[in-house]
Amino acid sequence: MDETSQPIEMLLSVSRDGRGLGTQIEAQLRGAIREGRLRAGARVPSTRDLASQLGVSRRVVVGAYAQLAAEGYLTLRQGARPCVAETAQARVLSSAGASVPAAAPRFDLRPRVPDVSAFPRSQWLRCLRDALQAMTNADLGYGDPRGVEALRSALAEYLGRVRGVAAAPERTIVTNGYSQGQGIVCRALIAHGARRIGFENPSHPEQRRIAEKAGLDIVPIGMDEAGIRLDQLERAGVDALVLTPAHQHPTGAVLTGERRQGLLTWLRQRDAIVIEDDYDAEYRYDRAAVGALQGLEPDRIVYAGSASKTLAPALRLGWLVVPPRLLAAVTDEKDLADCGTAGIEQHAFASFLARGELDRHLRRMRARYRRRRDLLLDELAHALPEATVRGIAAGLHATVELPDDYDEQAILDQARRRGINLVTMHDFWIPPSSGAPTLLLGYAQVPIPAIPTAIRALADAIRSTRKR
Ligand SMILES: Cc1ncc(COP(=O)(O)O)c(C=O)c1O
Repeated sequence: MDETSQPIEMLLSVSRDGRGLGTQIEAQLRGAIREGRLRAGARVPSTRDLASQLGVSRRVVVGAYAQLAAEGYLTLRQGARPCVAETAQARVLSSAGASVPAAAPRFDLRPRVPDVSAFPRSQWLRCLRDALQAMTNADLGYGDPRGVEALRSALAEYLGRVRGVAAAPERTIVTNGYSQGQGIVCRALIAHGARRIGFENPSHPEQRRIAEKAGLDIVPIGMDEAGIRLDQLERAGVDALVLTPAHQHPTGAVLTGERRQGLLTWLRQRDAIVIEDDYDAEYRYDRAAVGALQGLEPDRIVYAGSASKTLAPALRLGWLVVPPRLLAAVTDEKDLADCGTAGIEQHAFASFLARGELDRHLRRMRARYRRRRDLLLDELAHALPEATVRGIAAGLHATVELPDDYDEQAILDQARRRGINLVTMHDFWIPPSSGAPTLLLGYAQVPIPAIPTAIRALADAIRSTRKR
């Protein structure tokens, strides 16, 4: 071995108490790699340097290194520095029982993230630059916990125009995504005496956890093709309800006109509060958008939206339009949570909205997503004729229900083996897995040329669970 470069110091020691010197060196290096003190790729001293540091013969160190190389901890190459093997970290993780980081999937069919490759980076950058140029020193201090006035005004205008929300800047609160918004509303509801909150069954498990953590009791309320079941709602005795009326998450059902009327009657009679999660309402393909429910009962409905599906989850931008009776409590909770959302990003988003960039981006994305959805439906019809596909009129995913004897977990395992990342309905049900086997197929992250291959690979995974 030619090891002539700079010496590397390493904290190792040997004792001459009769234990083999080579064994001691091996044990210390193995320990350092296992504990992560020496990471994959890290250089270790040359055999000559280590021998002279420890005052042992070079032959002892050469033997120890050879043993560690044979075990996969070190890489030894003629003429190169010895270093920790790239495979060492995986060995360490798997021997510790930890999961080895998964390789990037070939197809990501999970529904949560939009096509962030289309994020309007240059437009956002321009808005950020504009924001920083226009912001005064005072703007760089703490501001109104409800958010920057320019953004609250721009949002109120946008939501009124696009979603029919009865919004006023004073009642609009900028949040760090929908998730934070729901959390602070739940805490404000508790301050107002609420105890029980209804959730559609199925619904997003994280959102139920947020309500539970705030201290509310969760009451599941069943669904059918027309939306939430009013008979169950009337018996539920809830003080509040989280609802996704424009595109029920995750089934994709749209609350019908008749159900909307029934729901509003219940809301007024019970004097309850609805949190309307208008998550992916901007994506509607086959008919005109249904306006937000909040516009029909702004005194009892908290409207909640997010930029996570329209732009990117990384922005962590969301908004609430709050009924007057909850405004002080929700503002207080937001103030306690973080003294307000990041101001520079709020100014940038205000400028993004004012320039019409969101409208332009959505127009472009709607056309793109519609093409992906249409192709996905064609491919599903060929590859999985036994499946019932629902929830396709809006949003960015389809629900694919399979005959009762399919096993969601087996499908997930087989899909993972084929490099497909997938989500099933399992955790969305209350209790988990209490409904028909159903896959949630997101199409936002799969480009057109990959869709046929992805769906064929998925059908193959599903079929393979049948053979066993
Ligand atoms: C039903 C639903 N609503 C809203 C959101 C958006 O959450 P956030 O704005 O916190 O990213 C999600 C994200 O997964 C969701 O599944």
